[in-house]
Amino acid sequence: MSETKVYNNYFFDEPVFDLHDGGYVPLEKVDMPDHPLNIPAALKPDKVEGNDVYYTITAQEGETQILPGAKTKTWGYNASLLGQTIVLKQGVHYHVHLVNKLPEVTTFHWHGLNVTGPIVDGGPHAPVYPGGSRDIDFTLDQPAQTDWIHPHPCPNTARQVWNGLAAAVVVTDDEEAKLPFPRNYGVDDIPIILQDRSYHDNQLDYKKDYDIDGTLGKYALVNGTINGVFDVTTQRVRLRILNGSDRREWRLHFDDDHGFTQIASDGGTLPEPVRLTKLMLTCAERAEVILDFGDKKPGDVVTLMSDDMPIMKFKIGQYVPDDVKLPEHLTTIDAPEVTPGLPVTRTVMSGMDDQVRLDGKLFDMQRIDRRQKIGDTVLWDVVNTNDMDGGMIHPFHMHGCQFLVISRNGKEPYPNEHGWKDTVGVNAGETVRIAVQFTKFGVYMYHCHILEHEDTGMMAQIEAYDPNHEHKYHLLSMDEMNHPKNK
Ligand code: C2O
Ligand code: CU
Ligand code: CU
Repeated sequence: MSETKVYNNYFFDEPVFDLHDGGYVPLEKVDMPDHPLNIPAALKPDKVEGNDVYYTITAQEGETQILPGAKTKTWGYNASLLGQTIVLKQGVHYHVHLVNKLPEVTTFHWHGLNVTGPIVDGGPHAPVYPGGSRDIDFTLDQPAQTDWIHPHPCPNTARQVWNGLAAAVVVTDDEEAKLPFPRNYGVDDIPIILQDRSYHDNQLDYKKDYDIDGTLGKYALVNGTINGVFDVTTQRVRLRILNGSDRREWRLHFDDDHGFTQIASDGGTLPEPVRLTKLMLTCAERAEVILDFGDKKPGDVVTLMSDDMPIMKFKIGQYVPDDVKLPEHLTTIDAPEVTPGLPVTRTVMSGMDDQVRLDGKLFDMQRIDRRQKIGDTVLWDVVNTNDMDGGMIHPFHMHGCQFLVISRNGKEPYPNEHGWKDTVGVNAGETVRIAVQFTKFGVYMYHCHILEHEDTGMMAQIEAYDPNHEHKYHLLSMDEMNHPKNK
């Protein structure tokens, strides 16, 4: 019975969906022809030397044809908008040259990667100044998953993402490679980066659209394309869906209620495939799903919707029938045992608008808010104290680790939350219990991933420490980050 169970609800609490906000901007149809869906190119390494792979990632300005007429001034990584997809493999040592060709300071944050903080992780302590660069290196030691890079400078993350900076990171490994998942990048394995923007004479104007509770745009973009169409040439297609929006929640479904199968969450493969007809993603969450078009014939069109708005189309072409069935067991999650004797860490997201706080405070780059010993597995209760009626969902994100969702208000997590996560949407009035383990010492952020909340200061820092190796961190102030002394 359980193998045929199909879920057809969004799981989250409907009364706190973003569409009930006073400042909600509904999506609008754009009166322009369909357009081939942009598939970001895969970034080519500068060189490969045995197990060492070298990449250059350049944050740059550019122009992109988004609407008819004038091009839009946009930012991207190795591209005019968004960025080239960075493909990483478990066990490989990466050397990354980060270059800033923007007119202002930025950082390169690896959202989802288990790399040392605060420098390699790329939060606000790792600024790259205009015309400057920074070199980092790390060994990728986590399983296959879909992550992303985005800027993280305080307090300008939201605007820089709005301008276009965000790129998919695809992590591969040998175990996942054995699973019968589509994995031909750009053909049957594609990123789906969901964002919303408004334009003013075809240009972005973050200030004009700014909302302190999270900026929304009226047009839906997938990979930077409005009214995108993907030409399907295989029976099964794998979507690596990323909510790359500043604020918007995406409630995805197909116009014909076509079912799909979720195979991975933020931190990689789920233990079991989860069949769905609806999927909601809060900011920064990822989901990998497989769509099986075996019931379609060439010429059919299936439309992906969010709420009642079409956001892109899949146009079915000729494909070779494929009778691959997914196994009912995909992977085993090695859940670490909770370290006995430790108290539950409680962290509280509160407020809305300019009143948002994390544990009653605003972010201070020079304050370490908590410490946790590396290797310990600690339960965290992540609380959203907003009112059940009239409150909102705050997506809680941690750097430097992937966690497991244990419960929501004492009840089972959602059916698609049994894998590793780094971001979890917390409903108003809810306590989400997670199990957190850091494996690398460092200073890491944790925060609400509504980018305007983060920029306002709904963010804190934790030091993951190794009692045998005292480590001193030079923590920049926000002022130093933005105005380097010797520059
Ligand atoms: Cu997606 Cu602190 O980051
Ligand atoms: Cu992050
Ligand atoms: Cu928030």
